Amino acid sequence: LITEVRLRRILDSRGNPTVEAEIRTESGGFGRGAAPSGASTGEYEAIERPAEEAIAKAREVAVPRLEGQIYAGDQRGVDGALRGADGTDDFSEIGANSAVAISMAAAKAAADVLGAPLYQHLGGAFRGRDFPTPLGNVIGGGEHAADATHIQEFLAAPVGAPSVSDAVFANAQVHAEVGEILADRGIPAAKGDEGAWAPSIDDGGAFEIMDEATSSVADDLGFEIGFGLDVAGAELYEDGAYHYGDDTRSPDEQLDYIAGLIADYDLVYVEDPLDEDDYDGFAELTERADDRTLVCGDDLFVTNTERLERGIESGAANSILIKPNQIGTLTDAFDAIELALRNGYDPVVSHRSGETEDTTIAHLAVAVDAPFIKTGTVGGERTAKLNELIRIEANA
Ligand code: PGA
Ligand code: ZN
Repeated sequence: LITEVRLRRILDSRGNPTVEAEIRTESGGFGRGAAPSGASTGEYEAIERPAEEAIAKAREVAVPRLEGQIYAGDQRGVDGALRGADGTDDFSEIGANSAVAISMAAAKAAADVLGAPLYQHLGGAFRGRDFPTPLGNVIGGGEHAADATHIQEFLAAPVGAPSVSDAVFANAQVHAEVGEILADRGIPAAKGDEGAWAPSIDDGGAFEIMDEATSSVADDLGFEIGFGLDVAGAELYEDGAYHYGDDTRSPDEQLDYIAGLIADYDLVYVEDPLDEDDYDGFAELTERADDRTLVCGDDLFVTNTERLERGIESGAANSILIKPNQIGTLTDAFDAIELALRNGYDPVVSHRSGETEDTTIAHLAVAVDAPFIKTGTVGGERTAKLNELIRIEANA
């Protein structure tokens, strides 16, 4: 039984306040969870409130429904109590940040009571035995860095890596290789919010560098390293066109452009290639894309079963990005994953651009047998998850 829920303000990786929750149980269990935060957030995401307000509201209406009321291991009960206390569809009362922190803390407290690792508690006895391949953000811009690429993320995808550990180190090597290529060409580069290089180069230049860096590291390591993108199309789309600085593309031109990139670079992963309302465009692109290319909806689906349902009906995308804080609870995230798997959509578990040291998503990706996890390449809040994956693999 949950005996205590504590909430506090802690720092995220951008230096902004976020919500941390701690849960204690009668049998001595303890769990702690912290909410991440997006910068290129989808229009249809659950609502994050300023941390102080989210904490005050959750203390007032949600904590009394949990303390002394529900078992931490009853995840649907905990998450249902959060929904009931909030009373809205989008967690705009207690904030999706308070909700997700509490939801994750409960899962960890339950795992602690069982004496099992979190992935085992979440995935159960019959989970798959595959590990996710990390997608490593190595060049980026968009909303995550000023004066850098228009496409938000260029992601190394070490699909041939024999283990998670090999994949994690391969991505770090690609990141280092990109840094060297930029230095050799005299291109200065800061890093964006997720630790990717954020050089002031055009997108064409970034493709060329990605191709060179992934090929060279693949040659060195002896396994295939492809690459992929998060276009974050909704951020580029305004007044009926996609804006790349002074250049614009019509929706048809954008579709042709992305289909061309998939073919030219043999992209294994393309996230949000189009605007978050363009289900028809997503369907057409999915049709045109190579079979092995994951066309993934992030802002399109926002981890929401109703939006995914609509995508399934129209054939939009073949993959869904799973961000628990986009929808507010682990229960909702699991429901989206289950719906995806039943309909042949691959779930890809993801961090946010604003992160903490919380490692829940690493366990979630292993628990649900996700083919990919997107959680950066370098930087402490990113390596927290990557190193946890290495530990899970080593101890499994
Ligand atoms: P965000 O970006 O966390 O800033 O929303 C990540 C993404 O778009 O995948
Ligand atoms: Zn995205």
